Amino acid sequence: MVSPMVGRVVSRAPAGAGVIRLAWPDLGAEELAAVAEVLESGQLTMGPKVGEFEAALAQACEVEHAVAVSSGTAALHLSVLALGIGPGDEVIVPAYTFPATANVVALAGARPVLVDVDPETMNVVPGAVAAAVTERTKAVLVVHLFGRPARWDELEGAVPEGVALLEDAAGALGARRAGRACGGLGELGCLSFHPRKIVATGEGGAVTTDDGGIADAVRRLRHHGIEPHGGFEIRAPGLNYRLPDILCALGVAQMRRLEELLAERERLAAAYAERLDGVVGLPSADAGDRHGWQAYVVRVDRRDEVLSGLREAGIEAQIGTYALHRLAAYGDQGPFPGADAAYERALALPFHNRLGNDDLDRVAEALSSR
Ligand SMILES: Cc1ncc(COP(=O)(O)O)c(C=O)c1O
Repeated sequence: MVSPMVGRVVSRAPAGAGVIRLAWPDLGAEELAAVAEVLESGQLTMGPKVGEFEAALAQACEVEHAVAVSSGTAALHLSVLALGIGPGDEVIVPAYTFPATANVVALAGARPVLVDVDPETMNVVPGAVAAAVTERTKAVLVVHLFGRPARWDELEGAVPEGVALLEDAAGALGARRAGRACGGLGELGCLSFHPRKIVATGEGGAVTTDDGGIADAVRRLRHHGIEPHGGFEIRAPGLNYRLPDILCALGVAQMRRLEELLAERERLAAAYAERLDGVVGLPSADAGDRHGWQAYVVRVDRRDEVLSGLREAGIEAQIGTYALHRLAAYGDQGPFPGADAAYERALALPFHNRLGNDDLDRVAEALSSR
């Protein structure tokens, strides 16, 4: 198996050509000024930038509440805890996803139940979700993988009342399913602001929801269990999963540019598609949806060989994500042929707005000559 770490092997890069990086967050003067303002304010945590960032996120996801936390994983973890999910409960998760989706369920003492994905869309198959529901099922954590909106309408029909549909929208801020904002489709949504995400703060995440009770529970849990609306009572233990003001300020500056950041990714995706049509399997979204383009993940045969070749040519490519049933932690639930096919073929290409046409040509050439 290819190492999940990004390699920097440049032995056969063209003379004079630099390494083409996988990701490069789009941060500039506005972000720098926003950070400086916080430093000058002397208020590094729980200051005004938290609420400002949350308001921008809630607006973008078209929900009442957003609660900023320290990572996408923290958002998922607190969501599971806020819903009271624990021992004896089951949560359905895709077999092909970033492991955090399942890890938080397992760490809450519940059982993550893997279901297969469509090897082309790489999102869960609604029929497989329906088949996995038992009387223990409390929720389904639906992932909009790499920013491609999942088939929400079909998923709503796949689960009985009482089973919560939750969104792992880590890579789907700005994505839309049939006109509706991802992060605002389910009972709650979880966002990530890791540097490979659309809005990047370094580390960071948020829970989005219309449910004031869930929002308050997440606020309590991110701050030691302390009541969010005053008082010193702690009814149940909590954690410190707060997001510092410097990072919230970065987020506010990024959110002001959300449409610009999305449009830039759309432009890049189109530029790749033009060069790679017929060369590799291209990513797409369903008609009427807006892809969030968290990553540009194509499908190729002999992926590991192609990945090594790109890295040797000085192009930082990466695997798509993980097939959980192939990991020791979740190895007892297979088989999942869709997740196997997705895992074996998915290849993430360099994707950021410092890529020039010559870089895109170099990637396309390396893929065409494989
Ligand atoms: C689908 C998915 N869920 C959750 C996460 C975890 O987010 P974070 O890295 O912010 O903890 C990621 C991050 O890559 C992800 O891709």
